[in-house]
Amino acid sequence: MSKIFVDACFRKETPYTPVWMMRQAGRYLPEYMEVRAKAGNFLNLCHNPELAAEVTIQPLDIVGVDAAILFSDILVVPNEMGMKLDFLKGEGPVFDKPIKTEADLDALIGGEEAANKLTYVYETIKILKQRLPQDKALIGFTGAPWTLATYMIEGQGTKTYNLCKKMMYSNPEFLHKILRRVTDVVKFYMEKQIEAGVDVVQIFDSWAAAIEPSKYDEFSWKYMVEIAEYLKEKYPHIPVIIFPKGIAAFIERGLVYGNFDVFGVDWGTPMALAKEKLGEKYVLQGNMEPCRLYSKEATTMCVEAIQNIMGGTGHIFNLGHGILPDVPVENAIHFVKECQRVSKKA
Ligand code: CP3
Repeated sequence: MSKIFVDACFRKETPYTPVWMMRQAGRYLPEYMEVRAKAGNFLNLCHNPELAAEVTIQPLDIVGVDAAILFSDILVVPNEMGMKLDFLKGEGPVFDKPIKTEADLDALIGGEEAANKLTYVYETIKILKQRLPQDKALIGFTGAPWTLATYMIEGQGTKTYNLCKKMMYSNPEFLHKILRRVTDVVKFYMEKQIEAGVDVVQIFDSWAAAIEPSKYDEFSWKYMVEIAEYLKEKYPHIPVIIFPKGIAAFIERGLVYGNFDVFGVDWGTPMALAKEKLGEKYVLQGNMEPCRLYSKEATTMCVEAIQNIMGGTGHIFNLGHGILPDVPVENAIHFVKECQRVSKKA
């Protein structure tokens, strides 16, 4: 059976424009909180294939999205490379020993050996392949090497990225060494997710906008291109989505090379601009401001506006970044219904 989400990634005609939500599983769902409590904490949940599969499916049943995004986190990759990770209440992710020296990097596990340690992710995918309805796609994912490196170098989320940027300008060779190590793991990781059964892969470059435009290609885009080329050569039938958040200002710079199928547009980028610059090369995904979910009226207005710009093929509805924990579930359901209503073909 064909999956409309995959068809849409390849710009094929579909009955309506499919929709999913970034961070569609999570704290806004009481059902998620229940399972997380059973697991003990967030990382335990990521490590438990049975429970991770359960929370992956929840948003399909509850909010009615057209694709499931694998429940995991981008930071399991550096974690399995050997960096101890904790999710602290109110602080988010923290690595206890960030990379400072060549010896720190050399101590990490690399390549296929690191990718082989992520068995719980592949197990989750295998369970999901059995449980998901035939017409729903499963999206696997990774962080972009740059976004992963920001956490590995800073040790946690950051507003200024000063440690990464000190390295970028004073020791770029070392930053490239880190990015190379991460890229080599991610290529195997994505390949193994595909072999386990995902239908689509997405690369999250959430902190793309931390890099100045003239350096973005060198420190992020080219590594994502390398990953995509590697996957596309082996698995041309698997769509590759990229989400480089916040780079609207330099979309003009010709960052349009690379074998990607879908470009995730963040909520700060006008959809009409994205369409003008990128719509011919890529199917566009996005891009409602997630806070519109606080109001049904604001949601409907935005969904209609996006449909007016994007109507037809070449688009997938999505939020322009992750959903927030205090959004009412009924508003999330309203978003999905409205996307399907406005885009339904006769
Ligand atoms: O439903 C889904 O979207 C799938 C699961 C998913 C999670 N994280 C679960 C999660 C995905 C795709 C991610 C990706 C991710 N993780 C990104 C890239 C996407 C983006 O939003 O930009 C990033 C930067 C991370 C790193 C990360 N993980 C942070 C910064 C945090 C803390 C966020 C916060 O609000 O506290 C996490 C934790 C996390 N990952 C949660 C979930 C559901 C919340 C954990 C919880 O308390 O249950």
